[in-house]
Amino acid sequence: MITLGIETSCDETAICLLETKENQYRILGNIVHSQIESHREFGGVVPMLAKREHIKNLPILYEKIIKESGVSESMIDRVAVTQGPGLEPALWTGILFAQELGKKLDVPVIPMNHMEGHIVASLLSQSKSHSEFQTLKELSLPALAVLISGGHTEIVKIEKLGSYKVLGSTVDDAVGEAFDKVARMLQLPYPGGPEISKLAEKARRESIPNKIKLPRPMIHSKNLTFSFSGLKTAALYALREIGTPTTEQVMGIAREFEDAVTEVLISKTQQALEEHEAQTLIVGGGVIANIHIREAFENLANKYSIPLYLPATGLSGDNALMIALCGSFADAKKPSSEGFKASGNLSL
Ligand code: KG4
Ligand code: ZN
Repeated sequence: MITLGIETSCDETAICLLETKENQYRILGNIVHSQIESHREFGGVVPMLAKREHIKNLPILYEKIIKESGVSESMIDRVAVTQGPGLEPALWTGILFAQELGKKLDVPVIPMNHMEGHIVASLLSQSKSHSEFQTLKELSLPALAVLISGGHTEIVKIEKLGSYKVLGSTVDDAVGEAFDKVARMLQLPYPGGPEISKLAEKARRESIPNKIKLPRPMIHSKNLTFSFSGLKTAALYALREIGTPTTEQVMGIAREFEDAVTEVLISKTQQALEEHEAQTLIVGGGVIANIHIREAFENLANKYSIPLYLPATGLSGDNALMIALCGSFADAKKPSSEGFKASGNLSL
């Protein structure tokens, strides 16, 4: 079966052609067009600009993927498109494009949950096109997924693929959002996550002493709720006290902020692992590109002797491969061909 995946929930226009049979997959084409350069001057994603860019890019990327993959349109069996969560004007562009295409090709169009996409992304071992079929990673259940992105911070229990229970989430900022906001305070370019990460790594390498102590919000609470807004405010107060920080002080704050976030994420995940006896740990979403956080999760999984599934290079951020894979799992008998709407707050 060949699934065309479309993802436009935020500032990446992404399209993918995926062939699947049983637990095997073959990537026929996978394109992610990032709009970061267009949004950078505004210090964050501007929804209406994202919408315009998606409208412009989608037909171009579709034509390109068809041409480069050698797949003829008549070979496409279904279209899977992100319905939410995300920015509604951006989501609508993908949905309308998918619905038009569904009509033209006379194939079902299946609405997908972006967060489920981040979960299943970790079952793939690579993001590049290849001619051979590959085997999907097998999931021992129940599994726990920790989803850390620009819009979400969630711990999810997976009883089986397609059946999810959110055990805890953030009451305010998402972890990636906190990275981006603190980066802005430190006058680093958007998106700030990778910038903070680079500075924090440098601070560790050069043993820059850390004179500022930031809180670890909710670390001792007995639930799986996160809150990162206070951490961001604490960083702001620390900066105000300093006035104009030196390069070393900026590096020190970046390191302390990354340590604080990491400790909270690991502590909550450990609590969830103990409460739910998970057999596999999945971590997904843009923030897992962070090396320090990756290593901390690797250590945690080793401690509990459970397999850790992380997205392969190119699959931690938003992409359409994860959406196509979700679409290939969806029940073929009741695809919703048209009539569904964008849902900015769609939950798992
Ligand atoms: O999953 P994603 O691509 O988009 C959303 O669905 O939100 O995640 C984007 C987020 C941004 O906040 C970005 O700053 C963060 O992931 N991010 C990182 C790193 N790379 C991306 N945060 C920390 N360290 C990184 N290396
Ligand atoms: Zn995402």
